[in-house]
Amino acid sequence: MEDSKRGFEEEEAFVEYGKVELKCSVNGIRAEKPKNLVIGFDLFRPWMLVITTMMVLLWLVALQLASMGKNIGSTAVKFDPPPYFPPPRAYNNEGYLMVTCNGGLNQMRAGICDMVAIARFLNLTLVVPELDETSFWHDNRSVISLVLYRSNYDFRLRLRTVLNSNSFSGSQFKDIWDVDYFIKSLADEVRIIKHLPPRLRKQVQRDGLYSMPPVSWSNMSYYYNTVFPRFRKYEVVRFTKTDARLGNNLPVEVQKMRCRVNYEALRFTPAIEEMGKKIISILREKGPFLVLHLRYEMDMLAFSGCTAGCNQTEVEELTRMRYAIPWWKEKEIDPKSRREAGLCPLTPLETAITLRAFSIDPKMQIYIAAGDIYGGNKRLAALKASYPNLVKKETLLSSSDLKPFQNYSNQMAALDYLVSLDSDIFLPTYGGNMAKVVESHRRYLGYRMTISLDRLVLISLIDQYKNGTLKWNEFSQAVKSAHANRMGSPSQRLQFPGEPKLEDYFYTNPQECLPSIVAGKPVKEMG
Ligand SMILES: *[C@@H]1O[C@H](CO)[C@@H](O)[C@H](O)[C@H]1NC(C)=O
Ligand SMILES: *[C@@H]1O[C@H](CO)[C@@H](O)[C@H](O)[C@H]1NC(C)=O
Ligand SMILES: *[C@@H]1O[C@H](CO)[C@@H](O)[C@H](O)[C@H]1NC(C)=O
Ligand SMILES: *[C@@H]1O[C@H](CO)[C@@H](O)[C@H](O)[C@H]1NC(C)=O
Ligand SMILES: *[C@@H]1O[C@H](CO)[C@@H](O)[C@H](O)[C@H]1NC(C)=O
Ligand SMILES: *[C@@H]1O[C@H](CO)[C@@H](O)[C@H](O)[C@H]1NC(C)=O
Repeated sequence: MEDSKRGFEEEEAFVEYGKVELKCSVNGIRAEKPKNLVIGFDLFRPWMLVITTMMVLLWLVALQLASMGKNIGSTAVKFDPPPYFPPPRAYNNEGYLMVTCNGGLNQMRAGICDMVAIARFLNLTLVVPELDETSFWHDNRSVISLVLYRSNYDFRLRLRTVLNSNSFSGSQFKDIWDVDYFIKSLADEVRIIKHLPPRLRKQVQRDGLYSMPPVSWSNMSYYYNTVFPRFRKYEVVRFTKTDARLGNNLPVEVQKMRCRVNYEALRFTPAIEEMGKKIISILREKGPFLVLHLRYEMDMLAFSGCTAGCNQTEVEELTRMRYAIPWWKEKEIDPKSRREAGLCPLTPLETAITLRAFSIDPKMQIYIAAGDIYGGNKRLAALKASYPNLVKKETLLSSSDLKPFQNYSNQMAALDYLVSLDSDIFLPTYGGNMAKVVESHRRYLGYRMTISLDRLVLISLIDQYKNGTLKWNEFSQAVKSAHANRMGSPSQRLQFPGEPKLEDYFYTNPQECLPSIVAGKPVKEMG
């Protein structure tokens, strides 16, 4: 595989980027004195200039063509440059890979990138991934609401019934991503088809389908030596899981393949892209914005056992829910020690204190990228008191704009993903898959600022501030210095061979696809 594949040529373009200083004047919480802090983030994206210039040229050409033709009367000249698709790669097909992606939107996204890379290096044909319909983080709102609203009853049974029924249908790949673009743009690497050919469909109907979950965090040798022979034997193999099937540190050509899928081949459907752009332009009209991935949602709290900020009734409800989901294995959780270990999402109040500690301007627009916040507006009041410009897609868009997406949490999450990519600052309150995948995508787009909280340190600091051990200024200073190296700037991924869970995740920092760094500055050669 050559290195100069489409999508990797632009890397040089964001080697150079300027930092614009944004002065935020801030009033500390609790009538502390105003304070100034300089927050630097990139606003200048040279490749935008290149693209804009090209668009203008194309538009001029289009204008000229249009004026030569008959359509002079139309007000807007619409011109979409024809997409360039590479010629297909010629290779001996060694079998057909079917996959069922598990997890939420972003876990599936990373999984899809891994699956393409596996198909590419095993010379397989990939069937467009299926999205798992039995995961709790499935996106059909009525299943989720069944879980939530039946929490007074024995809904374990009901949940099982719903998940096992065939009537259940959620978003599939084509409802979230542009499937034709995905197939065509990767044609020079791997053949991707929408369905198994009829001959194999018959074979599968007759003989069954060989399915397996690949061992997680594996390297390519596992796929060559253990998995590949099964394609020889069965021709069609289905992977029942896709999350973390590949390790973090693999040969550079595999890493580049994963990046190419993630950042170039996976585009959301035009409907999602367009609505995402609409939200962004509404926000941009009013100035800079911070996207807060406020993971204070009922599923998260129930799953993690984190109940800080909840009253007794709510604690009971969350606990009931955790016990009711059969595949959430951990049932008994001590919320206090979990929180102190840094394993809980911040509450809205803790979030407000944290944003203030970072000296983020109280006038800054704060876009909440999340589902329903547990406890609703009542719980958000603490955040809104500090940051009145608190918005989310539901408040920025009309209900008719949102209607096509609103029953599908993965499509709603896709809208938030797009807004998160474009924000001036991205701050997740919990280190889940969205936090990781968005952080990496922002690195790829030119190291846009992502504040990656060290919750272990932060929670201890917040508690010390609350009990008066730290004064506001000391607290704020301590928060800033604890995060000086956690702003999404260039860094090396931590590696612990044999201990993948202790390592930095590939999809948080795909350094093989980013300009490499010398003395804090990106340099031209690639790592
Ligand atoms: C895949 O095909 C390439 C040629 O395109 C070949 O060099 C390579 O060995 C093949 N790999 C496998 C696992 O069959
Ligand atoms: C969304 O789901 C709700 C309840 O399940 C239903 O009443 C509503 O009609 C659905 N809306 C759309 C646009 O499909
Ligand atoms: C969501 O799931 C419910 C229950 O299985 C089903 O009745 C409904 O049609 C599904 N909704 C959509 C929009 O797919
Ligand atoms: C790949 O993983 C196996 C264990 O599954 C290990 O024995 C082997 O050394 C690894 N190979 C490389 C190249 O890291
Ligand atoms: C707990 O909070 C819920 C709202 O989330 C509220 O309806 C309920 O009255 C509260 N219970 C107590 C005991 O404060
Ligand atoms: C304040 O809180 C911190 C962190 O929880 C704790 O270590 C410390 O002992 C507390 N100090 C006082 C005076 O309560």
